[in-house]
Amino acid sequence: MRNRRDDNGGHGGAPALVMTGVTRCYGRRQQRVRALDGVDVTLPRGSFTAVMGPSGSGKSTLLQCAVGLDRPSGGSVRLGGHELTRMGGRALTRLRRERVGFVFQSFNLLPALTAEQNVRLPLRLAGGGAGRADRARAVDALSRVGLGDRARSRPAELSGGQQQRVALARALITKPELVCADEPTGALDPATAEHVLGLLRTSVDTSGATVLMVTHDPVAASYADRVLFLAAGRVVEELAETGGWEPGAAAAARIAARMRSLAGRAGAGAGQGAGPDAGGPAGVGPGAPAGVAGARASEVAV
Ligand SMILES: Nc1ncnc2c1ncn2[C@@H]1O[C@H](COP(=O)(O)OP(=O)(O)OP(=O)(O)O)[C@@H](O)[C@H]1O
Ligand SMILES: [Mg+2]
Repeated sequence: MRNRRDDNGGHGGAPALVMTGVTRCYGRRQQRVRALDGVDVTLPRGSFTAVMGPSGSGKSTLLQCAVGLDRPSGGSVRLGGHELTRMGGRALTRLRRERVGFVFQSFNLLPALTAEQNVRLPLRLAGGGAGRADRARAVDALSRVGLGDRARSRPAELSGGQQQRVALARALITKPELVCADEPTGALDPATAEHVLGLLRTSVDTSGATVLMVTHDPVAASYADRVLFLAAGRVVEELAETGGWEPGAAAAARIAARMRSLAGRAGAGAGQGAGPDAGGPAGVGPGAPAGVAGARASEVAV
Protein backbone atom coordinates (compact mmCIF):
# COMPACT_ATOMS: atom_id res chain seq x y z
CA MET A 1 0.00 0.00 0.00
CA ARG A 2 1.32 3.38 -0.96
CA ASN A 3 2.18 5.81 1.83
CA ARG A 4 -0.01 8.87 1.94
CA ARG A 5 2.07 12.00 2.14
CA ASP A 6 1.46 15.61 2.99
CA ASP A 7 2.38 18.46 0.62
CA ASN A 8 6.02 18.24 1.57
CA GLY A 9 6.10 14.54 1.05
CA GLY A 10 5.73 13.80 4.74
CA HIS A 11 9.40 14.63 5.18
CA GLY A 12 9.01 18.25 6.21
CA GLY A 13 11.31 20.98 4.94
CA ALA A 14 11.36 22.59 1.53
CA PRO A 15 10.16 20.78 -1.59
CA ALA A 16 12.82 18.88 -3.52
CA LEU A 17 12.27 21.00 -6.62
CA VAL A 18 10.39 24.19 -7.42
CA MET A 19 10.24 25.44 -11.02
CA THR A 20 8.47 28.75 -11.52
CA GLY A 21 7.62 30.34 -14.86
CA VAL A 22 10.36 28.39 -16.63
CA THR A 23 10.79 29.07 -20.33
CA ARG A 24 13.34 27.61 -22.73
CA CYS A 25 13.68 28.82 -26.29
CA TYR A 26 15.96 27.33 -28.92
CA GLY A 27 17.05 28.86 -32.20
CA ARG A 28 16.41 32.29 -33.64
CA ARG A 29 13.81 34.04 -35.77
CA GLN A 30 11.87 31.61 -37.97
CA GLN A 31 13.72 28.68 -36.42
CA ARG A 32 12.70 29.71 -32.91
CA VAL A 33 11.16 26.94 -30.83
CA ARG A 34 9.62 27.56 -27.43
CA ALA A 35 10.36 24.18 -25.86
CA LEU A 36 9.11 25.32 -22.42
CA ASP A 37 6.55 28.07 -22.18
CA GLY A 38 6.04 29.09 -18.55
CA VAL A 39 6.25 25.86 -16.58
CA ASP A 40 5.40 25.77 -12.87
CA VAL A 41 6.23 22.49 -11.14
CA THR A 42 6.73 21.70 -7.46
CA LEU A 43 7.97 18.30 -6.39
CA PRO A 44 7.40 17.54 -2.70
CA ARG A 45 10.15 15.48 -1.14
CA GLY A 46 9.43 11.78 -1.27
CA SER A 47 7.03 12.06 -4.21
CA PHE A 48 6.92 10.27 -7.56
CA THR A 49 5.80 12.39 -10.51
CA ALA A 50 5.35 11.20 -14.08
CA VAL A 51 5.51 13.57 -17.06
CA MET A 52 3.62 12.65 -20.20
CA GLY A 53 2.93 14.41 -23.47
CA PRO A 54 3.42 14.17 -27.21
CA SER A 55 6.83 13.95 -28.82
CA GLY A 56 8.35 17.42 -28.91
CA SER A 57 6.16 18.77 -26.08
CA GLY A 58 9.20 19.62 -23.94
CA LYS A 59 9.51 16.68 -21.55
CA SER A 60 13.26 16.13 -21.91
CA THR A 61 13.85 19.87 -21.82
CA LEU A 62 11.86 20.06 -18.58
CA LEU A 63 13.99 17.36 -16.94
CA GLN A 64 17.23 18.91 -18.10
CA CYS A 65 16.25 22.38 -16.88
CA ALA A 66 15.14 20.85 -13.57
CA VAL A 67 18.69 19.70 -12.78
CA GLY A 68 20.73 22.41 -14.49
CA LEU A 69 21.83 20.32 -17.48
CA ASP A 70 20.13 22.93 -19.63
CA ARG A 71 19.75 26.63 -18.86
CA PRO A 72 16.25 28.07 -18.92
CA SER A 73 15.71 31.24 -20.96
CA GLY A 74 13.62 32.61 -18.10
CA GLY A 75 12.07 31.72 -14.75
CA SER A 76 13.40 30.13 -11.60
CA VAL A 77 14.54 26.61 -10.71
CA ARG A 78 15.17 25.81 -7.05
CA LEU A 79 16.72 22.43 -6.35
CA GLY A 80 16.88 21.59 -2.65
CA GLY A 81 16.66 25.32 -1.92
CA HIS A 82 19.44 26.33 -4.37
CA GLU A 83 18.57 28.70 -7.22
CA LEU A 84 20.12 26.93 -10.22
CA THR A 85 19.67 29.77 -12.71
CA ARG A 86 22.17 31.89 -10.82
CA MET A 87 24.81 29.20 -10.31
CA GLY A 88 28.02 28.80 -12.29
CA GLY A 89 28.87 25.63 -14.18
CA ARG A 90 31.15 24.11 -11.57
CA ALA A 91 28.81 24.69 -8.66
CA LEU A 92 25.98 23.23 -10.72
CA THR A 93 28.00 20.14 -11.57
CA ARG A 94 28.88 19.64 -7.90
CA LEU A 95 25.28 20.08 -6.78
CA ARG A 96 24.08 17.60 -9.39
CA ARG A 97 26.69 15.09 -8.37
CA GLU A 98 25.72 15.35 -4.74
CA ARG A 99 21.96 15.33 -5.11
CA VAL A 100 20.78 14.09 -8.48
CA GLY A 101 20.65 10.82 -10.38
CA PHE A 102 19.79 11.25 -14.06
CA VAL A 103 18.76 8.59 -16.55
CA PHE A 104 19.11 10.04 -20.06
CA GLN A 105 16.70 9.18 -22.83
CA SER A 106 19.77 8.14 -24.82
CA PHE A 107 21.43 6.40 -21.79
CA ASN A 108 24.78 8.28 -22.14
CA LEU A 109 26.92 5.37 -21.07
CA LEU A 110 30.64 5.69 -21.70
CA PRO A 111 31.44 3.15 -24.43
CA ALA A 112 35.01 2.47 -23.29
CA LEU A 113 33.94 1.49 -19.77
CA THR A 114 32.38 -1.79 -18.64
CA ALA A 115 28.89 -1.82 -17.14
CA GLU A 116 30.39 -1.99 -13.65
CA GLN A 117 32.74 0.93 -14.36
CA ASN A 118 29.89 2.99 -15.78
CA VAL A 119 27.81 2.37 -12.66
CA ARG A 120 30.76 3.23 -10.42
CA LEU A 121 31.49 6.46 -12.29
CA PRO A 122 29.43 8.76 -10.01
CA LEU A 123 31.41 7.47 -7.02
CA ARG A 124 34.68 8.10 -8.86
CA LEU A 125 33.61 11.60 -9.88
CA ALA A 126 32.86 12.26 -6.23
CA GLY A 127 36.47 11.35 -5.42
CA GLY A 128 36.09 7.72 -4.34
CA GLY A 129 34.91 4.56 -6.00
CA ALA A 130 38.29 2.91 -6.45
CA GLY A 131 38.15 0.36 -3.65
CA ARG A 132 36.89 -3.20 -3.60
CA ALA A 133 33.82 -2.26 -1.55
CA ASP A 134 32.74 0.25 -4.20
CA ARG A 135 33.22 -2.30 -6.96
CA ALA A 136 31.03 -4.70 -5.02
CA ARG A 137 28.49 -1.92 -4.56
CA ALA A 138 28.39 -1.31 -8.31
CA VAL A 139 27.93 -5.03 -9.03
CA ASP A 140 25.19 -5.11 -6.41
CA ALA A 141 23.47 -2.14 -8.11
CA LEU A 142 23.69 -4.04 -11.39
CA SER A 143 22.22 -7.14 -9.75
CA ARG A 144 19.25 -5.10 -8.60
CA VAL A 145 18.46 -4.26 -12.23
CA GLY A 146 18.97 -7.91 -13.21
CA LEU A 147 22.44 -7.51 -14.72
CA GLY A 148 24.75 -8.90 -12.06
CA ASP A 149 26.24 -11.27 -14.65
CA ARG A 150 27.01 -8.53 -17.20
CA ALA A 151 29.28 -6.36 -15.04
CA ARG A 152 32.22 -6.80 -17.42
CA SER A 153 30.31 -6.12 -20.63
CA ARG A 154 30.77 -2.84 -22.49
CA PRO A 155 27.74 -0.90 -23.71
CA ALA A 156 28.20 -2.07 -27.32
CA GLU A 157 27.88 -5.66 -26.09
CA LEU A 158 24.58 -4.95 -24.33
CA SER A 159 21.07 -4.65 -25.75
CA GLY A 160 19.24 -1.30 -25.60
CA GLY A 161 17.18 -2.43 -22.62
CA GLN A 162 20.29 -3.70 -20.82
CA GLN A 163 22.06 -0.37 -21.41
CA GLN A 164 19.00 1.42 -20.08
CA ARG A 165 19.17 -0.64 -16.89
CA VAL A 166 22.91 0.08 -16.49
CA ALA A 167 22.02 3.77 -16.77
CA LEU A 168 19.41 3.36 -14.04
CA ALA A 169 21.85 1.50 -11.76
CA ARG A 170 24.31 4.37 -12.31
CA ALA A 171 21.65 6.95 -11.43
CA LEU A 172 20.68 5.16 -8.21
CA ILE A 173 24.09 4.14 -6.87
CA THR A 174 24.65 7.33 -4.88
CA LYS A 175 21.12 7.18 -3.41
CA PRO A 176 20.35 10.66 -4.76
CA GLU A 177 17.65 12.89 -3.31
CA LEU A 178 16.23 13.56 -6.77
CA VAL A 179 16.06 10.95 -9.51
CA CYS A 180 15.18 12.23 -12.98
CA ALA A 181 14.52 9.48 -15.49
CA ASP A 182 13.75 10.20 -19.14
CA GLU A 183 11.71 7.28 -20.47
CA PRO A 184 13.60 4.76 -18.29
CA THR A 185 11.44 1.88 -19.49
CA GLY A 186 11.27 2.89 -23.16
CA ALA A 187 13.44 -0.03 -24.28
CA LEU A 188 12.22 -2.64 -21.80
CA ASP A 189 9.81 -5.57 -22.08
CA PRO A 190 6.78 -5.35 -19.73
CA ALA A 191 8.19 -7.67 -17.04
CA THR A 192 11.57 -5.91 -16.89
CA ALA A 193 9.82 -2.53 -16.97
CA GLU A 194 7.71 -3.58 -14.00
CA HIS A 195 10.85 -4.55 -12.10
CA VAL A 196 12.59 -1.22 -12.89
CA LEU A 197 9.49 0.80 -11.96
CA GLY A 198 9.31 -1.14 -8.71
CA LEU A 199 12.90 -0.06 -7.98
CA LEU A 200 12.00 3.59 -8.56
CA ARG A 201 8.87 3.25 -6.43
CA THR A 202 10.91 1.63 -3.65
CA SER A 203 13.48 4.41 -3.72
CA VAL A 204 10.62 6.82 -3.01
CA ASP A 205 8.82 4.73 -0.41
CA THR A 206 11.80 3.44 1.55
CA SER A 207 14.60 5.96 0.94
CA GLY A 208 12.47 9.10 0.67
CA ALA A 209 13.88 9.92 -2.78
CA THR A 210 11.95 12.21 -5.11
CA VAL A 211 11.39 10.85 -8.61
CA LEU A 212 10.54 12.76 -11.79
CA MET A 213 10.01 10.38 -14.70
CA VAL A 214 9.12 10.97 -18.34
CA THR A 215 7.11 8.22 -19.95
CA HIS A 216 4.76 7.57 -22.86
CA ASP A 217 3.39 4.47 -21.14
CA PRO A 218 0.26 4.79 -18.96
CA VAL A 219 1.20 1.63 -17.05
CA ALA A 220 4.60 3.14 -16.16
CA ALA A 221 2.89 6.41 -15.18
CA SER A 222 0.56 4.50 -12.87
CA TYR A 223 3.53 3.90 -10.54
CA ALA A 224 3.65 7.64 -9.85
CA ASP A 225 1.64 9.58 -7.29
CA ARG A 226 0.86 12.25 -9.82
CA VAL A 227 0.96 12.68 -13.58
CA LEU A 228 1.71 15.98 -15.31
CA PHE A 229 0.62 16.31 -18.93
CA LEU A 230 2.70 18.57 -21.13
CA ALA A 231 1.66 20.07 -24.48
CA ALA A 232 3.57 22.68 -26.43
CA GLY A 233 5.87 23.40 -23.50
CA ARG A 234 3.11 23.89 -20.93
CA VAL A 235 1.68 21.78 -18.14
CA VAL A 236 -1.89 21.50 -19.36
CA GLU A 237 -3.27 18.97 -16.90
CA GLU A 238 -2.42 17.23 -13.69
CA LEU A 239 -3.77 13.94 -12.49
CA ALA A 240 -3.26 13.70 -8.76
CA GLU A 241 -3.55 10.72 -6.48
CA THR A 242 -7.15 10.35 -5.48
CA GLY A 243 -6.93 7.74 -2.77
CA GLY A 244 -3.89 5.53 -2.96
CA TRP A 245 -4.44 4.03 -6.37
CA GLU A 246 -2.14 1.16 -7.08
CA PRO A 247 -0.03 0.68 -10.21
CA GLY A 248 -1.68 -1.51 -12.76
CA ALA A 249 -4.55 -1.76 -15.16
CA ALA A 250 -7.14 0.43 -13.43
CA ALA A 251 -4.83 3.39 -12.85
CA ALA A 252 -3.27 2.98 -16.30
CA ALA A 253 -6.73 3.01 -17.91
CA ARG A 254 -7.54 6.23 -16.09
CA ILE A 255 -4.31 7.86 -17.28
CA ALA A 256 -4.81 6.62 -20.83
CA ALA A 257 -8.34 8.04 -20.85
CA ARG A 258 -7.02 11.44 -19.76
CA MET A 259 -4.33 11.28 -22.46
CA ARG A 260 -6.99 10.58 -25.08
CA SER A 261 -9.19 13.42 -23.91
CA LEU A 262 -6.24 15.83 -23.96
CA ALA A 263 -5.20 14.71 -27.43
CA GLY A 264 -8.78 15.19 -28.59
CA ARG A 265 -8.95 18.66 -27.07
CA ALA A 266 -5.61 19.75 -28.52
CA GLY A 267 -6.40 18.30 -31.95
CA ALA A 268 -3.97 19.28 -34.64
CA GLY A 269 -2.77 22.26 -32.63
CA ALA A 270 -1.02 20.20 -29.99
CA GLY A 271 1.87 22.59 -30.11
CA GLN A 272 4.84 23.37 -32.17
CA GLY A 273 6.97 20.41 -32.92
CA ALA A 274 4.31 17.99 -31.75
CA GLY A 275 3.98 14.87 -33.82
CA PRO A 276 5.73 11.59 -34.24
CA ASP A 277 8.75 12.96 -36.06
CA ALA A 278 9.24 16.10 -34.07
CA GLY A 279 11.35 14.76 -31.22
CA GLY A 280 14.33 16.71 -30.05
CA PRO A 281 17.83 15.39 -30.27
CA ALA A 282 17.14 12.34 -28.14
CA GLY A 283 17.15 14.05 -24.79
CA VAL A 284 20.31 16.00 -25.40
CA GLY A 285 19.93 19.75 -25.12
CA PRO A 286 22.74 22.21 -25.70
CA GLY A 287 23.80 22.11 -22.07
CA ALA A 288 23.73 18.32 -21.97
CA PRO A 289 26.77 16.19 -22.57
CA ALA A 290 26.40 15.63 -26.27
CA GLY A 291 29.19 13.42 -27.59
CA VAL A 292 29.86 12.14 -24.13
CA ALA A 293 32.26 9.57 -25.48
CA GLY A 294 34.82 12.24 -26.19
CA ALA A 295 34.35 14.18 -22.97
CA ARG A 296 36.80 14.13 -20.09
CA ALA A 297 35.52 12.11 -17.14
CA SER A 298 35.38 15.24 -14.97
CA GLU A 299 32.95 16.85 -17.41
CA VAL A 300 30.66 13.90 -17.82
CA ALA A 301 27.14 14.28 -16.53
CA VAL A 302 25.94 10.98 -15.12
N1 LIG B 1 19.12 21.72 -28.71
C1 LIG B 1 17.98 22.02 -29.33
N2 LIG B 1 17.98 22.90 -30.37
C2 LIG B 1 16.84 23.23 -31.01
N3 LIG B 1 15.62 22.73 -30.67
C3 LIG B 1 15.58 21.87 -29.65
C4 LIG B 1 16.74 21.45 -28.94
N4 LIG B 1 16.38 20.57 -27.97
C5 LIG B 1 15.05 20.42 -28.09
N5 LIG B 1 14.56 21.21 -29.09
C6 LIG B 1 13.15 21.33 -29.51
O1 LIG B 1 12.39 21.61 -28.36
C7 LIG B 1 11.16 20.91 -28.41
C8 LIG B 1 11.03 20.03 -27.18
O2 LIG B 1 12.01 18.99 -27.25
P1 LIG B 1 12.12 17.84 -26.16
O3 LIG B 1 13.31 17.00 -26.51
O4 LIG B 1 12.06 18.44 -24.82
O5 LIG B 1 10.75 17.03 -26.44
P2 LIG B 1 10.20 15.71 -25.75
O6 LIG B 1 8.84 16.02 -25.21
O7 LIG B 1 11.20 15.14 -24.82
O8 LIG B 1 10.01 14.74 -27.02
P3 LIG B 1 10.21 13.14 -27.17
O9 LIG B 1 8.99 12.49 -26.58
O10 LIG B 1 10.30 12.96 -28.66
O11 LIG B 1 11.50 12.75 -26.48
C9 LIG B 1 11.14 20.14 -29.72
O12 LIG B 1 10.43 20.90 -30.68
C10 LIG B 1 12.60 20.05 -30.08
O13 LIG B 1 12.80 19.97 -31.47
MG1 LIG C 1 12.38 13.45 -24.84
